[in-house]
Amino acid sequence: MMVEARYDRVQVILHWLIAVMILAMIGLGLFMVELPKKHELPPGEESVRAFYFLLHKSLGITAAILIAVRLGWRLMHKAPPLPASISKWQQRAAGAVHGLLYTFMIAMPVSGYMQSIYSKYDTKFWGLVMPRIADADKVMRDNMSDIHEWLSVIFMVLIVVHVAALIKHKLAGVRLMDRMSLK
Ligand code: HEM
Ligand code: HEM
Repeated sequence: MMVEARYDRVQVILHWLIAVMILAMIGLGLFMVELPKKHELPPGEESVRAFYFLLHKSLGITAAILIAVRLGWRLMHKAPPLPASISKWQQRAAGAVHGLLYTFMIAMPVSGYMQSIYSKYDTKFWGLVMPRIADADKVMRDNMSDIHEWLSVIFMVLIVVHVAALIKHKLAGVRLMDRMSLK
């Protein structure tokens, strides 16, 4: 079935830009925490861990800025109504999952930034040193790391549910992808 209503250009561009960044952030996060720390390497060998941590933080803060713009835009612009062929409970479920995706798009950078604040290393944004708002605190850092890690697991489940729902509708002949594509 052809789907008429669609998201506007700004929503489409931001959805895809942010989705790519988030998938890259998840890959980068899972990869970098496995890298050896400097003291775990033979003497004289440099660790690349710091490089990837700095990249994850800078990209994450950049994503947070885009997410803030997207949220602002979304609060002023409605989502296009879903086709009437989609049942009421599924429309409500879609609304709930989208709301949760937005919540996690905020919670991920916030929890990431919080752990970075309590770390002994400065937080840098593409090389620019961010002001220190709190003293380094090992216990707080570890708590925030655990929160960031658990949130990322739930976030991944939500993204899988999001994509699975789209595939389900596609199989039923409703091409929701058209709603999130540029004409
Ligand atoms: C879209 C936003 C973000 C996503 C999706 C994301 C995702 C992840 C993931 C999947 C991990 C690996 C978790 C693990 O297995 O331990 C991770 C770790 C980490 N993230 Fe993020 N992150 C985001 C934003 C940020 C930001 C903004 C910062 C800091 C400014 C940050 C700092 C960190 C740090 C320091 C770790 C390593 C934690 C550790 O040492 O255990 N993240 N992130
Ligand atoms: C990776 C992280 C992703 C996040 C955080 C995310 C987030 C969202 C959110 C919040 C909405 C609702 C937009 C609104 O009403 O304001 C949405 C809609 C949509 N997303 Fe994603 N998305 C992601 C990945 C994907 C992927 C991989 C696909 C395609 C395979 C996809 C396809 C769509 C489509 C087609 C819609 C429109 C749904 C409708 O017709 O109502 N998204 N996404």
